[in-house]
Amino acid sequence: MRRIAIVPGDGIGIDVTREAVKVLELLREKRSLDIELSHFDFGAEKYLATGVSLPPEQLEDFRNNYAAIFLGALGDPRIPDMAHARDILFGMRFGLDLYVNMRPVRLLDERLCPLKDRKVGDIQFVVFRENTEGLYVGTGGFFKKGTKDEVALQESVNTYKGVERIIRFAFEYAKENGHTKVTMSDKNNALRFEGDLWVRVFDEVGARYPGIQKEHWFVDALAMQMIKRPEQFQVVVTNNMFGDIVTDIGAQLQGGLGMAASGNINPGGVCMFEPVHGSAPKYAGKNVANPFGAILTAGLMLEHLGYRDEGALVEQAVVRAIRERKTTTDLGGNLGTKETGDAICAIIDAAN
Ligand code: NAD
Ligand code: IPM
Ligand code: MN
Repeated sequence: MRRIAIVPGDGIGIDVTREAVKVLELLREKRSLDIELSHFDFGAEKYLATGVSLPPEQLEDFRNNYAAIFLGALGDPRIPDMAHARDILFGMRFGLDLYVNMRPVRLLDERLCPLKDRKVGDIQFVVFRENTEGLYVGTGGFFKKGTKDEVALQESVNTYKGVERIIRFAFEYAKENGHTKVTMSDKNNALRFEGDLWVRVFDEVGARYPGIQKEHWFVDALAMQMIKRPEQFQVVVTNNMFGDIVTDIGAQLQGGLGMAASGNINPGGVCMFEPVHGSAPKYAGKNVANPFGAILTAGLMLEHLGYRDEGALVEQAVVRAIRERKTTTDLGGNLGTKETGDAICAIIDAAN
């Protein structure tokens, strides 16, 4: 029995996770998957009531007793500094050393693309976002805070080990999946030190993959090229901050934040899967959030657990629902979150 931890979190994270769980439970039953879902209430409500964000022993429990974690989203206007979300989200990313943030950018239906004349196969690449370093490590500090002489420092930490392993992962993924090009993106024209390390490591690791073309874009130009000619990309690797930004662009290329899936991966350990979007507080509990990003994320998780057919089935069901306009309003349909999840379950149920 493989245990999966379900952490709905906050806001629409709760709404979309409910639908992803329905899909997972249906597949478990129909396809006799050897999985068991355990639910955890970590999030703003618990934090505000008890002061507990992520109990210190929880990561150890996840590490030892779980095959995967599914996270909805975190973020609540009552906790403006995101203290609980930092503990939970970064707690998992850093604490479980989930150094690969895999964010596929796949257009599932050309109607959803904001660009003119783009076909489904035109937008089909993966961004590997470094997930444990860079500007996210939280080092820095204030000096003379609250005065007119205030200094705020936020340091970008890049280690050889960290840069090497994410770039190597991107090349390995490219090789295993028959891709012919890896694109590295940074900002070495302005950010000299980290840029220098990223460029050197990209050259060094890339040299071990003679059959794969190496390409580089400065991240500002990458953002532009993702709009101008997204069909040129296969595998993109970049740092934590830039990866965060360009994957929101990637989400919109697929039809919006409600469509984008992600996996936070440690190749040797328990991994965490979450949609790219946040808790969208204004839509929380209103049955309007698009659950497809979460459902596709559940599919990605199943694939990761070795259930390839089931992962593919989930994606096919989403494709079919979009084609039949069984979607939430952000995609032009008129269904609620729950009814959209029901439609996916009905498609999967009818499939075999
Ligand atoms: P957001 O992703 O929550 O929402 C931005 C906008 O995108 C929404 O207003 C909505 O128009 C659209 N959107 C997002 N998800 C959607 C869905 N499933 N269906 C339909 N439309 C959707 O980003 P935000 O407003 O910048 O952040 C809200 C909170 O979420 C903040 O606290 C932020 O820090 C947090 N956040 C958390 C995560 C995470 O947990 N992984 C990711 C991003 C943002
Ligand atoms: C994401 C989110 C998070 C990030 C926030 C909520 C800290 O935007 O997962 O893309 O920046 O990584
Ligand atoms: Mn983001």
